[in-house]
This record gives sequence, structure tokens and C-alpha cells, in this order.
Amino acid sequence: MAFNKRVKIKTLLEQSPIGESVTIMGWVRTRRSNKNVSFIALNDGSIITNYQVVADPNQISEEILKKCATGACLKISGTVVESQGSGQTSELHANSIEVLGEADPEKYPLQPKKHSLEFLREIAHLRMRTNTFGAVFRVRHALAFAVHQYFNDKGFFYIHTPIITASDAEGAGETFKVTTLDIGNPPKTEDGSVDFKQDFFEREANLTVSGQLEGELAALALSEIYTFGPTFRAENSNTTRHLAEFWMIEPEMAFYDAEDNADLAEDFLKYLINYAIENCQEDLKFLENRLLDEEKSKPADQRSEMGLIEKLKFVAENDFVRITYTEAIDILKRSKPNQKKKFQYLIEEWGADLQSEHERYLVEKHFKKPVILTDYPKEIKSFYMRQNEDGKTVAAMDILFPGIGEIVGGSQREERMDLLVSRMEELGIPTDEMWWFLDTRRFGSTPHAGFGLGFERMVQFVTGMGNIRDVIAFPRTPGNAEF
Ligand code: 4AD
Ligand code: MG
Repeated sequence: MAFNKRVKIKTLLEQSPIGESVTIMGWVRTRRSNKNVSFIALNDGSIITNYQVVADPNQISEEILKKCATGACLKISGTVVESQGSGQTSELHANSIEVLGEADPEKYPLQPKKHSLEFLREIAHLRMRTNTFGAVFRVRHALAFAVHQYFNDKGFFYIHTPIITASDAEGAGETFKVTTLDIGNPPKTEDGSVDFKQDFFEREANLTVSGQLEGELAALALSEIYTFGPTFRAENSNTTRHLAEFWMIEPEMAFYDAEDNADLAEDFLKYLINYAIENCQEDLKFLENRLLDEEKSKPADQRSEMGLIEKLKFVAENDFVRITYTEAIDILKRSKPNQKKKFQYLIEEWGADLQSEHERYLVEKHFKKPVILTDYPKEIKSFYMRQNEDGKTVAAMDILFPGIGEIVGGSQREERMDLLVSRMEELGIPTDEMWWFLDTRRFGSTPHAGFGLGFERMVQFVTGMGNIRDVIAFPRTPGNAEF
């Protein structure tokens, strides 16, 4: 029989074809045996539920049954029968079992008991075989699919922007260098600096921090585009929200102003949440219970007021709050944690950069809703943001989510050549190297806007996972590039 004639456990559970002969394949989660019979719970990752297989020692040799231990991979053929036990409608009576891959139960790191998330991070190569990570990665897939569905339905085009670039879109200087020079002995110029003319690209290059600048070029030709790719930041932040390699979705739209941009972002986030609610029910239910369990160990005042699915519905069904940075600063200045000096960074005056403690106060304590914060001081935002009439602020937009803080960052872009050039000069961004970016303002410029959604932060929000390292298969963080 061809391998691909197997039936997926998801299909088997949906159809329960009583009386039919089928073959399933998957990994043993648990096995219970008594004198008369063995019960094997098999999981193939297609769905969170294990499928129960009943193996009769008169039919399956003892030698084979011994090898059906936790972690082993099996091919089982048998007859689908009505389930005697509770829960499932059907189970498989095995006629034959082939052990595709043995697993020594003494050495297999994943035991049927509960493992901590920290431990599972150390065995990230196996953790997808657990219920939690199976659920997380199925939801992650569904959200990625929904991103493309959403934009395709709206007539946006998916653009693949480069991963290797020579620019630093965010201007934060947090790039990883890309070079083929011998770093122990690089060629030097006369003045003693590294001679990048002799490097692969004949100039300095780095991994991209954002596809936005190239996205803007595409939007000023195709009107509405989006990118969805990996981005890299060498920021030394060891937090539960930062990765050195993360995926970002960046729509960029010609003929959009700041309000259009916020409308699209809010609609998009709600679409993704609704998609998960509709398409990932079993996994979300499992993740909701996992979260409840995890929160039992927290003090009562730190537990969430809503269950995971209730929280998702709440966010999808209610308008986000929209306020300006200036209004937010007023709220924060007057807030209890600021008055009582409970914030690590006290808000003293207008112009202060917001830390995650402030963002979370606004969202979780003050408004208890997602917040779209706009019109930040230009000093704390990137060069490309459109300058407002007041001369002090720019048409920036950050979206803050409960439990996450900033999930989206975006803005209307500066489409006016003279203002863009003078801002770049103020910030010391070389306008000659950015000639290609400035050409869009030189030729056929138009108002346009866009934003970036941190995909892992979105997956965190939807799955309720507290640490960003647990929503990407192989996280890259400072000091950590295993697997
Ligand atoms: O706010 P950021 O830096 O914005 C940009 O990169 C713009 N070029 C986007 C645009 O307008 N097209 O990043 C956007 C989002 C953040 O809101 C956050 O969700 C996520 O990317 N993000 C990170 N996620 C994980 N780890 C990190 N180190 C992240 N840095 C940003
Ligand atoms: Mg940002």
C-alpha cells in the first residue's frame, strides 16, 4: 500500500467510517495494557485529539506490542468500530501494526507527564509533538493562511522584499551584518577602516529590519501591496516579546491617509482573530484550558478576567480606542502608578518614549481595550513618517494589545520631497545612498501609508502563550541559535 493512502486522524474523527478498513500512521502518545488488550493513543499532528487503537495480543505479537511505546512511530491497519469508551465516536481495531520508528522509552525526552515550557524550549526539535505546541503551530499556520486570504480578497499584491539590504529602514542601528570578508583579517583602506569595496556586494550589507522601504516602491506602482517575511534585529532585548528573527506583515497603500491606515489595521486584526475563532476551535479550547491551568499558580489579581476565547471575541467585536500620544501622556501622568512612582520609567513630560509598562497600563488598566495611539513626537519615531502641521508630531500609529503591548507600528509616510529630505538630513541619513527611495517622491509622489504587524506577537495574542519563544518553531534570541 502506498504511504499516502493513509487516512489522517482528523479525517477519521470527522467521518468515523464504521466497518471500513483503514491505515493510520502517527506517534504513540500513551499505551495502556492489560492481559487481554492494549490501548494505544496515536497522534499524527493533523488534529489535537489522539486516536484510540485497540490491539489484541492474539492478533498482534507481543514483540511488536512491546515496541509500541511512547514516542514510537507506527503504521496501523485495522477496522473502524464504534467506540465503547467515552468521548470519541470510533476507534480502530488493529489487524496489523508496523513499527516505522522505535523510541526507547528510557531515553525519549518527552514523557506522557507534563513538562515545563522552559524544558520544552531546550528540546525544541521534539516539542512540536506535544499537545501545546501542536496546537500553537496549527494556529500559527491558520493565521498565516488568513493573512494571505485577507489581502488577496482585497486585491492587495504580495511582494517579496529582499532579506539582504544595504539600508536600515528603522534607523535604529540594530542590524546584523552580511559579509564574506575574513573577519579575522579584513582588507583595509588607506585610512585603516575595513574596505567593503572588496566585500561580496562591494559595499556594507545587512539583514533587513523591515521590508517597508521596498514595499513603498511597490505601492507607488501597484497601489496596494503587502509583504510577509522574516526580519532581523540585533537588539539585545531579553524579553518575552522580542526575537532577533521574527516575521512581519507589512501592507503599504497608495492613496491612504492616517485614518484609512488605522481603519485597515483594525479590520485586518479583527479578521485574523475571527478566522482563528472559526477555524481553530479545538486548538483554542485546549490552549484556553492550558492558560487557565497556568494562571492557577499566579496571584488572583494577576489572572485574566476573561478566558482566552472570550477575550478574542471581545477584541474582535468592539471598536478599538483611538487617542493621540498627547492624550495618552496626560492619562499616564495622572495615573496611579505614575503618581505613586510605581512605573520603572516615570512619565514626567511630553516627549517621553512609551515603555511597555505604559502601553500595558493604557490597554489593560485604563481602557481595557486595544488602543490605537497616533501622532507621536517626531523625535521618537522614524524618518519616513509624515510630519504634522504642528511641526512637533508625525502621523505615526501604534496599536497596543492587552497582554502584548505594541503589536502594530505604522504611519502615513512623508510624501513631500523637501520635508523628507530635510528630516533625513537632520537625522544624518545619507540621502545620496537613498536615491532610489527619494525617486518615488521625485516622480509621481502621492499620499500613502502602511504598517507592520509583528506576526509572532499576533500568534502570542491568539494562543495566549506568554513567551514569544513559544510561538516560533526555532526562536533566535541573544545567545540562542540552537536547532
Ligand atoms: O514598529 P516597528 O519597528 O515598525 C516597522 O518596522 C515599520 N517599518 C513597519 C511599517 O510601517 N511597515 O515593527 C513593527 C512590529 C511591531 O509593532 C512589533 O509587533 C513587531 O513588529 N516587532 C517585533 N516582534 C518581535 N521581536 C522584535 N524584536 C520586534 N520588533 C518589532
Ligand atoms: Mg514600533
